[in-house]
Amino acid sequence: MSARTALPLIATVAALVVVSTGCTSTKTAGSDGSKIELVTAGKLTTCTHLPYEPFQSRQGNKVVGFDVDIVDLVAKELKVTQEIVDTPFEGIQTGEDLNAGKCDVAAAGMTITPVREENLDFSGPYFDATQALIAKKGSPYTSLAALKGKKLGVQQGTTGETYAKKNGVGVETVQFEDVALLLTAVKTGQVDAAVNDNGVLFEYVRKNPEMAVTAEFETGEKYGIGVRTGNTALRKEIDKVVKAARADGRYDALYKKWFPAAPKADPKVDAQADPKADPKK
Ligand code: ARG
Repeated sequence: MSARTALPLIATVAALVVVSTGCTSTKTAGSDGSKIELVTAGKLTTCTHLPYEPFQSRQGNKVVGFDVDIVDLVAKELKVTQEIVDTPFEGIQTGEDLNAGKCDVAAAGMTITPVREENLDFSGPYFDATQALIAKKGSPYTSLAALKGKKLGVQQGTTGETYAKKNGVGVETVQFEDVALLLTAVKTGQVDAAVNDNGVLFEYVRKNPEMAVTAEFETGEKYGIGVRTGNTALRKEIDKVVKAARADGRYDALYKKWFPAAPKADPKVDAQADPKADPKK
């Protein structure tokens, strides 16, 4: 009799131990999101996809850019250093890298979209963007309609690819894995034009004055920093830091640092301008 009653009691105690151990290890993995836990202690690990100048690009053996500086503000607040992992955009935008614990945050000039919201959590918006068109200066490609029967380069997995496929009726889209390959393809004439985010295209044109941003499409995009779904503590920390930086001028200083002149697309000027003309005019 006593042996019979004692047995279930032991089983119950054992079960309790298992349950509480389970809870503790869950917390350590940081999956309940109530406090900030980093995949590598002492570091804020960022997944990004290079290059995406001026948001993230290599300069010597460092990765620099607007996004890098924004995440550095968060790292500083957490008293850790940022470590950047360069990885294909697909794994970033699907939430796969965050779920696999490859990084704490994803900062990649990434647009907040409803589909992505299902797979990862975004910070509040920290940058506005639209899709834009780039072509050789003087080319007639100032709209998607003008590209009918022509080749239009897009970057794999991006909002630009989605936009071009949806709106480019009769346009042949050609996919590139990163923006460097995409822009080189336009420059060398492998494709007739390319679609990508305006900030990145304007930076490229600034450095390559034989190229022009020939249209902007007012897609009304906003960039967000991604965290693993449910990582509320880290997401809130990012929002807190960005809000403070906007209020005290640090955000504006970074904006000026990375976007010294924010030009607007002017199809008439860009498409017909003399390629030898002063690009700053
Ligand atoms: N904003 C676009 C998107 O979210 C393009 C982002 C590409 N970013 C990058 N680092 N390659 O789809």
